[in-house]
Amino acid sequence: MSRGARRPAWGAIVTVTAEQPARPRKEAAAPSGSSAPTAPAAPAQKKMAVDLKGKVALVTGATSGIGFETADFLAAHGADVILGVRNVEAGQKIAKEIMAAHPGCKVEVGPSLDLTSQDSVKAFASKIAERKGPLNILVNNAGLGYTKKSFTEQGVGMLTQVNHLGPYTLTRMLESKLVASKARVVNVASVTHRITRIKDARALFTDWKGGFYQHNKLANVYFAFELQRRLGARGLQACVADPGAVRTNIYNNSPKLSKGLINVMINKFYAPPEDGAKAVIHAASCDWDADRPAPAKGKAKVAPQQDLRYYARGVFTWPQITSDWAMGGKGFLGKLKGDLWGMSTVVLSFLDWPLRRAFPGCPALSKARPCKPGSHAYDEKIASEIWDVSAEYAELPKAPQL
Ligand SMILES: NC(=O)c1ccc[n+]([C@@H]2O[C@H](COP(=O)([O-])OP(=O)(O)OC[C@H]3O[C@@H](n4cnc5c(N)ncnc54)[C@H](OP(=O)(O)O)[C@@H]3O)[C@@H](O)[C@H]2O)c1
Repeated sequence: MSRGARRPAWGAIVTVTAEQPARPRKEAAAPSGSSAPTAPAAPAQKKMAVDLKGKVALVTGATSGIGFETADFLAAHGADVILGVRNVEAGQKIAKEIMAAHPGCKVEVGPSLDLTSQDSVKAFASKIAERKGPLNILVNNAGLGYTKKSFTEQGVGMLTQVNHLGPYTLTRMLESKLVASKARVVNVASVTHRITRIKDARALFTDWKGGFYQHNKLANVYFAFELQRRLGARGLQACVADPGAVRTNIYNNSPKLSKGLINVMINKFYAPPEDGAKAVIHAASCDWDADRPAPAKGKAKVAPQQDLRYYARGVFTWPQITSDWAMGGKGFLGKLKGDLWGMSTVVLSFLDWPLRRAFPGCPALSKARPCKPGSHAYDEKIASEIWDVSAEYAELPKAPQL
């Protein structure tokens, strides 16, 4: 949505009409005294030749941040959009707001989708599965950065439940509809997948520290890649999107990131959601064939099972970040490598959006494109093990049900 049209300056929320009721959603804190441009929204994005007429898209976590912007973009470009949100009332207000901004578009709100509860996820998925017509795009966006230590009745850490098991269950319960629709599935992951490994699939679920945010985001990558390996040949297109560094509500409940200098820096330098959502939007709406990596000279075209895509944008596609230095290594030099990667990634994350503003239109800063995830993300063994353990917790067959 051209949210800038309603927000002449960040933080100054324009009064909306009765048709467009003010949304009670929590806005990410605005930078004080910002010299930000008055219209940071995405007019260039709106001019993209994307036509999603006749497509049906489901976006989870559309009440704020990246999910809201993604739902808005898809609706603006012709898709019928279903909002998968836990607060149905908030979802209805957002649906009205998007429809008012793009007359003629269709946005509906599903039943409540609370990813903390497997019952809620299953009830939601059943309703969507029963819904007539295709499901062409699924964006698994809803996520949580931090929560106090707690476990579900099944003994699954709450972060893993919300960030991985819930989206896994939802996707698996919709798999036959998705395959029949030759759908695109986008898992929203993060650069943090690069700094960790999952050695034990069960620990992701039951060990609180083994199921932290970065492990969940790595699980999101494994799940998208495994989905593509298992169903890519049937026409499904599963991929990962890394939004980069975006100032959203996700930082608000983190004890470390919600206050102090770091919070000031996030609010000042991270991209606003209407800019930060673009890698996710591209992954959800791009022409799959146009983005397919060209085969190496003399090699056959990449088979769908091997077409594993990780979309990112700006500095998050640069070799410094995509290198495998993130994991460091043994000894002094190994540690130094990891520390250098960490420091330079933090610095680059604060430069990404300011650089994009300073050099508008520079493809290296603005174009979303497939890039290299951490090399460990291609580990088929652990991806398959996580799939199987997830299926056990989700009480679903391990093999796709088509
Ligand atoms: N912001 C960044 O810099 C960044 C970077 C990398 C990746 N990401 C990823 O981007 C995705 C979107 O996050 P965001 O930054 O846009 O944050 P956000 O504004 O906080 O949005 C998170 C969304 O997830 C929903 N959600 C949280 N817990 C839920 C639950 N139990 N059940 C259903 N929905 C739930 C929230 O709904 P409520 O409104 O009901 O809370 C909200 O709509 C996440 O997957 C995150 O990991 C973000």
